[in-house]
Amino acid sequence: MIHFRRPPSIMRSTLGLSWKWTALLCVLAVIVAFIPQAAAVKEHDFKKCHQSGFCKRNRAYADNAASQSSTWNSPYQVIPESPVLKDGQLHAIILKTINDKGETARFPITVSFLKSGVARVTVDEERRQKKDIELRHNSPVRKERYNEAEKWAIVGGLELDKQAQVAFQDKNQINIKYGPESKLEAVIKFAPLEAEFRRDGATHIKLNDRGFLNMEHWRPKVDKPEPKEGEEAPAETGEDESTWWDETFGGNTDTKPRGPESVALDVSFVGYEHVYGIPEHTGPMSLKQTRGGEGNFEEPYRMYNADVFEYILDSPMTLYGSIPFMQAHRKGSSVGVFWLNAAETWVDITKGKHSSNPLNLGPGGKTNTHTHWISESGVLDVFVFLGPTPRDLTQKYGELTGYTAMPQEFSIGYHQCRWNYISDDDVKDVDRKMDKFKIPYDVIWLDIEYTDDKKYFTWEPHSFADPIGMGKQLDNHGRKLVVIIDPHIKKVDGYSVNKELTSQDLAVHNKDDSIYEGWCWPGSSNWIDCFNPKAIEWWKSLYKYDAFKGTMENTFLWNDMNEPSVFNGPETTMPKDNIHHGQWEHRDIHNLNGLTFHNATFEALVSRKKGEKRRPFVLTRSFYSGSQRLGAMWTGDNQASWDHLAASIPMILNQGIAGFPYAGADVAGFFGNPEKDLIARWYQAGAFYPFFRGHAHIDARRREPYLLGEPYTAIVTAALRLRYSLLPSWYTAFFYANRDGSPIVRPMFWTHPEEESGFAIDDQMFVGSTGLLVKPIVDQDKESTDIWIPDDEVYYDYATYQTMSTKKGKHLTVKATIDQIPLLMRGGHIFPRRDIPRRSSTMMRFDDYTLVVSVSKSGSAEGELYVDDGDTFDNEQGQYIYRKFTLAGNKLSSADADGRYVKTIKAGKWLTDMHDVHVDRIIVVGAPSAWNKKEVDIESDGRSWKVKVEYHAAEKGRAAFAVVGRVGARIGQDWVIKA
Ligand SMILES: *[C@@H]1O[C@H](CO)[C@@H](O)[C@H](O)[C@H]1NC(C)=O
Repeated sequence: MIHFRRPPSIMRSTLGLSWKWTALLCVLAVIVAFIPQAAAVKEHDFKKCHQSGFCKRNRAYADNAASQSSTWNSPYQVIPESPVLKDGQLHAIILKTINDKGETARFPITVSFLKSGVARVTVDEERRQKKDIELRHNSPVRKERYNEAEKWAIVGGLELDKQAQVAFQDKNQINIKYGPESKLEAVIKFAPLEAEFRRDGATHIKLNDRGFLNMEHWRPKVDKPEPKEGEEAPAETGEDESTWWDETFGGNTDTKPRGPESVALDVSFVGYEHVYGIPEHTGPMSLKQTRGGEGNFEEPYRMYNADVFEYILDSPMTLYGSIPFMQAHRKGSSVGVFWLNAAETWVDITKGKHSSNPLNLGPGGKTNTHTHWISESGVLDVFVFLGPTPRDLTQKYGELTGYTAMPQEFSIGYHQCRWNYISDDDVKDVDRKMDKFKIPYDVIWLDIEYTDDKKYFTWEPHSFADPIGMGKQLDNHGRKLVVIIDPHIKKVDGYSVNKELTSQDLAVHNKDDSIYEGWCWPGSSNWIDCFNPKAIEWWKSLYKYDAFKGTMENTFLWNDMNEPSVFNGPETTMPKDNIHHGQWEHRDIHNLNGLTFHNATFEALVSRKKGEKRRPFVLTRSFYSGSQRLGAMWTGDNQASWDHLAASIPMILNQGIAGFPYAGADVAGFFGNPEKDLIARWYQAGAFYPFFRGHAHIDARRREPYLLGEPYTAIVTAALRLRYSLLPSWYTAFFYANRDGSPIVRPMFWTHPEEESGFAIDDQMFVGSTGLLVKPIVDQDKESTDIWIPDDEVYYDYATYQTMSTKKGKHLTVKATIDQIPLLMRGGHIFPRRDIPRRSSTMMRFDDYTLVVSVSKSGSAEGELYVDDGDTFDNEQGQYIYRKFTLAGNKLSSADADGRYVKTIKAGKWLTDMHDVHVDRIIVVGAPSAWNKKEVDIESDGRSWKVKVEYHAAEKGRAAFAVVGRVGARIGQDWVIKA
């Protein structure tokens, strides 16, 4: 949720006033907030590149280099004698010429060749490594460049490739072969420094080939003497220092104790036309160019986590989270880079035809994508991935930053939220009504109003007098409660949480090292500093069941405002010269801040009770690389409009390929009052978000599904039931995300990397490996849509089994009246469902399964089911069922997908209970005539029996299908059916 729109001046001016005035102005601010507002973000509340000193400087640097192109010499050179390759790492020294007297600064570079085939280039500044600098304003911050992003973001994959070898070396360059079968090669040219990365002899990625590398070396501020009265100021010589030392934006001044220290680098993708990734932004999945021109952006993509009020669409503006991972794609190849830097970062993108080889010019010439990465501070740290497939990229990026956590199973069901359910009775009433209308849901949510005066870990004593009674009713219905806890802690006497935070010195500091105070929901607040291990320990203590009274085992968490959002701060966040644990400036770690808070809450939930080993569920708004290990994200405060519905699909697809696929958008839109048809369409789309939550602003009218009236309540209920019946397939898709980083919903280029006409498609998606292809309707009054078909396989309509054949690369027109979702089944897949309607996923845990077999053109199909207890970590001890189903010829079979001999697994409680769960029905869509019989033989566990078949011959475009009823085979055991 978002802060009120208010004139910043009101908020700022309250700081120095007595509490009474503060309270009065607070009320005033609330009133101001409810005055009708313009429907778009105040763009000028957030910086454009030219308002950000380091962005402006680096764009100017790039323009200068580009304008001189052939005469431009990057001032960075490797000392030719310095490179040494040892145990998979190349170490060398770069000299940067810093003035026309030829003076230089030294920058040690390390290129690490990892076993995975990923290469990592790190550049630091020697003088700052040695702490040989002076800080301005007697600042107590660290002198080094920030080098701890790795500590938070990276969890593995750093093993070095000790087989990496020098393949060539002279005084101009060094070539190193590395990676599996030494197929990869890095070529480092010395003067000027340039790095090329090759796969099978061809160059895919170049660093600094345009000479935009810029590491602003430390320098003392030299105060120029003021010109004496009557004298002319001396003519300006040298560089423009206007943005080096202090910078003011929106009335806030950043004091920059280390002066200019940005890091920037150009990265070129040779022969690549599409780049994806670097969430979180609105706009198309295939990223746009950013330096103007028809249809392009004028501004670079910005990553500076911020609470952006009523964000705009199709924009490179920053949003709440950042993942600086980009992949480039062309037919037959995917490569990428991961820019590990937690400071404010901008990325420019341009595209151009090959110019180095004149024969490549003209229509046949290949496009290159050029990118320019600009961060405010920190070391230069970039990982280079050479693919060759999109799957290799997501897998290797996940190996480094971690894979999606296996979720609490309930959390992939539907979540019912609004700001706010006003009392425990209100919650209980919504819960009862959902049952009365037979609408399934798993979780109901409480926004900030449940607290006593915005003091987290307390309950409003009148409206939430009996949280345990509320929790128990939910538990009886197999449901959960999620409550919000934010990182700002109300600064008020008598609030023990604030007292502990400040007296134990666990809060973020001001630039002078005193405790920082700012404004957020509760008014004056302090912020927990989760970079401090002691703060994490303290945070854990607050969540114990006996400390956070009113919570139970079915209570889970929501972390909002963790960018952090500070209402009276610059760009609604913290001053950059604030100080965190370890004496790092906020500037250095800003984009990691949300992750560290999310991490602390995750850790707190794991340790709520001794001996209780359960998976946490924590939703976060702010995130960074690695946040996928900790829970789910949503796209923040969207609007109840058709264009926001449309925008949610590329945003969620982009999260998936950037390693954080557990993503959703507020269903039906946060701000505003959606029309009923929009609500219906949004639920139909939301049923295909990995994270599926309905949410609404405090000013929005109530819109729980049962309030809509017919036909809309029925339409929404049908979308929810579809989601619930497919939960086994969704859970299996999460399992793949957890195992190898595969997106949960997959874009066309990822599943079909050879089909060029699909590379820019971002409005349709596959669900995991089920072959289910959905294209949600996102336009009003639209009753059909054209689905792009990626291959020559047969497709069936999900609801009618209509055969939908076409050629690859063509579109299929699918009807979709307001009660229909355009959903196809690709031939060749088998996916699991649970078809008995229940009130929540918990109530479905031991239901029998339905298998849907969608037969390919060649008569085969395969698919998987993964299931575990959905709650504990026993899955890590082999307590799971993982089946592979195969249709080959007339034989349909189930076998353990890991090749385990199932009988030898020692079953715990859950696995024992699963023993009585069976395959109930099997629906074979596109069934060959062999299935045209009354019964089939099944064999399992040394027994064989016959089961009935209903066969329906093809007619009027509908495929033939067979329903095998009451199969009776145990889901966890091998079986074979012969048709
Ligand atoms: C949370 O952060 C701490 C401190 O860096 C780390 O030890 C821990 O592994 C993190 N937890 C998770 C789940 O990543």
